[in-house]
This record gives sequence, structure tokens and C-alpha cells, in this order.
Amino acid sequence: MDTKYFNMKDKINEDKIYDSAQEILKGNLVIFPTETVYGIGANALDENACKNIFKAKGRAQDNPLIVHVSDINMLNKVVEKPSEIEEKLINTFCPGPFTIILKAKNIIPKSVTAGLDTVGIRMPSKKIANLLIKIANTPIAAPSANISGRPSGTKIEDIRNEFQGKVATIIDAGEVDIGVESTVVKVMNNKVRILRPGKITKEDIEKIGLEVEIDKNILGKYDGKEKVLSPGMKYRHYAPNTKCMMIYSKDEEKMISKIKEEANNKTVLIICKDKNYNKYNCKYKIKMGNTLEEIAHNIFSILRKVDKYNVDLVIIEGMEEDGLGLALNNRLLRACEYNYIKL
Ligand code: TXA
Ligand code: MG
Repeated sequence: MDTKYFNMKDKINEDKIYDSAQEILKGNLVIFPTETVYGIGANALDENACKNIFKAKGRAQDNPLIVHVSDINMLNKVVEKPSEIEEKLINTFCPGPFTIILKAKNIIPKSVTAGLDTVGIRMPSKKIANLLIKIANTPIAAPSANISGRPSGTKIEDIRNEFQGKVATIIDAGEVDIGVESTVVKVMNNKVRILRPGKITKEDIEKIGLEVEIDKNILGKYDGKEKVLSPGMKYRHYAPNTKCMMIYSKDEEKMISKIKEEANNKTVLIICKDKNYNKYNCKYKIKMGNTLEEIAHNIFSILRKVDKYNVDLVIIEGMEEDGLGLALNNRLLRACEYNYIKL
């Protein structure tokens, strides 16, 4: 398939979004930007089109897709009436980097839900994404645009080669804003369970008076015994081929000396905060930003680069677990395959 490329880095082109919406309606795939990461989308009501997403990504059949809607009307067409708590969450956090698991109506094909009776619903706030769904006038199923197991795509240059020829159009809006995928939640026994942490934090949800629980698989390693609530949690994800480790202490000097100790006698690449960059005197190092927001914005693109350095070990500076730090720890623990030292 010929892949059309639309550059909307500086300006939205509604004609080209219309063009992409037509491709969606023809059953083809479109890569489009959201505020979190790029998505690879298909008409969520078209079973065959959705099956092609699994093929293009090499995604496990039992890992359900998130369905993106443009507004509440469209949401009501695909799910049963939300409970009071669910409604409160929707009214507060949608549109935005937030996905809520709700009871699916039958019009959602089984390949989208992976046979579950629930579906993840997300209303993106990014204008291009919202227009694409609105113009297509159909919900769009879209996982992150990356080959399964790789870091999610946060800029087109990182993922173009993975999907060239497999999708009808690519809409390039430059680097995404947030850089980590949406917060996924499910309401269970009147509590909000976070299944995947993201920009909308535990603290944000508590602020609206709801009780929040963090799923134990977020920072723990899936032991293969129990059934996971979010199938995506059991797969290898984000990990480069080079061995990675994360080291953290609240006491920065302690963290830095431990990193130096681990780096000793090895060829290493150190991924560190900008302000610590000059404290390491090894040959290979990458700045990841200073704030949690900056780190979220940069981290997937950095993880995609590390194999090019041909080092024995990648050492990543860790960070606190609250706020957006929970999402970063969740992704980085997987990238390091749980190779983590916390002092
Ligand atoms: O920010 C995002 O959410 C991006 C953009 C493109 O919107 N999408 C994204 O989709 O990250 P994906 O497929 O890469 O991740 C979806 C996650 C997976 O871990 C999946 O297992 C979980 O959500 N999920 C989807 N439907 C579910 C359901 N019905 N129950 C539990 N977990 C579900
Ligand atoms: Mg993904």
C-alpha cells in the first residue's frame, strides 16, 4: 500500500484530515497524533480493519484496543450507561489523557475487546485526533503506534519505518505533548483502580473526592499466576536490546555515586537529568530533562536510540513515584526488565 504523508507540524489541514477520515471509512489504517503518543487507528466498528491493526503491530490477540470517541454522544453509542462515579470521572477528565474501562455494547467487535465484555474509552483532547474522529463520524480503535514491545511512538521519525506501506496515511504533527500513554482506570467496588498510570495522576483523581487504588502490577513484576485486569501489563514492553538498569535514591549524591560504581570498568550509556550531566565523566550520556514532564516528553524517543551506542549497559537515573513519576517508573521498570536498585 502507498502510504500518504501529511505534514501538519505547523498548521492543521482539514482537507487532509478529511482524506484520512475517508481512509478510516474504507477500512484502512491511519497514524495520527494524540496529546499522549501517536496512535494507529481503524474504524472501531469494522472487525476486519481492527484485525489489521493487530497484524501491523504484531500485537497479541488477547490485548484489547482502546476506542477513541469525539464526544459524549459517541461514547453513549458504544457503552452501557456509566455509573455515577464513572460519570464523574468522564465529566472531569474527558477530553484528555484518560482512558476508562466501561461495559461495551454489542456493536463493538470482539477483536477490539479481545473477547472481554468491557472496552477502554478515550476522548483525546488533541485537535487533530478529535477532528479525525468527528469527520469520520465513527469511533476509532487505536493502540499506540509502535511495533508491539517497542516504546510508543512520540514522533513520526521514530516510527515511520515500522509502518511505511502498512497504513494509508500518516499525519505528522511533530513531537507529542505528553509523551507517555493515557492513564487507564476501571471503577471496581466504588473505587477507582489505576491499571496504567499516566498524566492524570492518583492525586488528580483523589482531588475530586474519589478513592483510588493502584494495581499491584504497576510497579510489581507480573508473576504469571493471577489473571491481570489489563492484559497489556503482562507483555514485555519498552525494553531495548541492550541491558538497562535504573538506580534511584532520594539523596541525589548517593544515587550518582552508586551509578558511578555500577559503571566502573564497563562501557556504559548514562541517561540522566540535565543538571547532573556534567557530574558523569563517561563517554556516552544522554540528557532526559529535569522535570517529570520533560522526562515523560523525551523518554520513549531516548529509549529507541540506546541500542545504537553499542554499550554493555545503560544506566538510567530513577525518580520519585508520586505524580507523573508513577507513570515513568512503570514504563522504565519494564524497559529495565525490573533491573532496579533503590537506595
Ligand atoms: O494514550 C493512549 O492511551 C494511546 C493513544 C493512542 O490513545 N493508546 C494506547 O493504547 O496506549 P495501547 O493499546 O497501546 O494500550 C492500551 C492499554 C493496554 O495495556 C490494554 O491492555 C489496556 O489498555 N486495555 C484496553 N482495553 C482494556 C479493557 N477492556 N480492560 C482492561 N484493559 C484494557
Ligand atoms: Mg501500547
